[in-house]
Amino acid sequence: MKKLNVAVVGATGLVGSTMLKVLEEREFPVAQIYAFATARSAGKTVMFHGAPCVVEELTETSFVDHDIDVALLSAGGGTSKVYAPLAAEAGVTVIDNSSQWRQVDGIPLVVPEVNPEVIKGYRGIIANPNCSTIQCMPILKTLRDRYGLKRIVYSTYQAAAGAGMKGLHDLEEGTTTTFDYPLPLNVLPRIDEFMEDGSTKEEWKMVQETRKILGLPDLAVTATCVRVPVDFGHGVAINAELQDDFDLETVRADLEAQDGVIVKDDPKNHVYPIPQDCKFNDMIYVGRIRRDASQPNTLNLWCVADNIRKGAATNSVQIAEKWLEYADESWFADREEA
Ligand code: A2P
Repeated sequence: MKKLNVAVVGATGLVGSTMLKVLEEREFPVAQIYAFATARSAGKTVMFHGAPCVVEELTETSFVDHDIDVALLSAGGGTSKVYAPLAAEAGVTVIDNSSQWRQVDGIPLVVPEVNPEVIKGYRGIIANPNCSTIQCMPILKTLRDRYGLKRIVYSTYQAAAGAGMKGLHDLEEGTTTTFDYPLPLNVLPRIDEFMEDGSTKEEWKMVQETRKILGLPDLAVTATCVRVPVDFGHGVAINAELQDDFDLETVRADLEAQDGVIVKDDPKNHVYPIPQDCKFNDMIYVGRIRRDASQPNTLNLWCVADNIRKGAATNSVQIAEKWLEYADESWFADREEA
């Protein structure tokens, strides 16, 4: 197995530090690890496989000065806007966790259980989707494949960790460094910026990214995104109108067979997914699977996943794994020549 030189940008942040952990846990074949953050963090150390790794300041020449094969970026949209193209120009495969590149034509937006084929033979920037969108994709894929999708209504219950270290701090302390109002004992129906039409950017992301990942550009999708006083683990209620009628047995069986998904659905015994099920693991839990009697061919369900892991770090590492699986010999030959 070829070993790669891997960079994590934003290595001192919540997602970046989890990326390091997930690379370790999944035994991604790393020859050399590089950790980048701002000048404030330069000289600090992060641990990787039990050894200290000194954090470096990210600069415009970082990807030229170092021999890096793959870079995982999670340092905000502004950083990705500037540095992802610089890295790609230097021949680095970039997996970007920000929203900066997701809607750009030609940039793959990937959930490995759903649309891995879009990165076959691809070089350059690959976008990691929005956290709440990721956890819905393997579920909607199973429904799309068997019944077809007509309209999706999302209602999210999103954890504080989605707003980074500051979000967790605000949840613990009741401060408002990142939220408009105190989050403890509260729910806040705004995630990301408001847009002209009164929806939020997070809601817009869920709509657009769902269409792109599922390859259904005209799918009717709407979302309401809400922050709740939970540390880790987003919940999403999905109302899915399907093209064809369905039976619940088959839906359950398809979801049970879907890679990355665990069905936890036994209402009689009060068994259903809660954020604590998914905290610090990589699975998407689904339950409350039932028919919506208000209109034909419509299904209600509920899912949870750890937004920092499957919703961000783990999905990024899984993309890197898929990319490596697909990377042909010519890529390695070109890298050696460069
Ligand atoms: P730093 O810790 O030096 O500020 P979180 O989302 O948990 O707040 O983490 C954000 C991460 O992104 C941190 O590691 C932060 O580094 C990093 N970061 C933010 N802006 C930049 C930048 N311009 N260049 C490199 N890293 C950045």
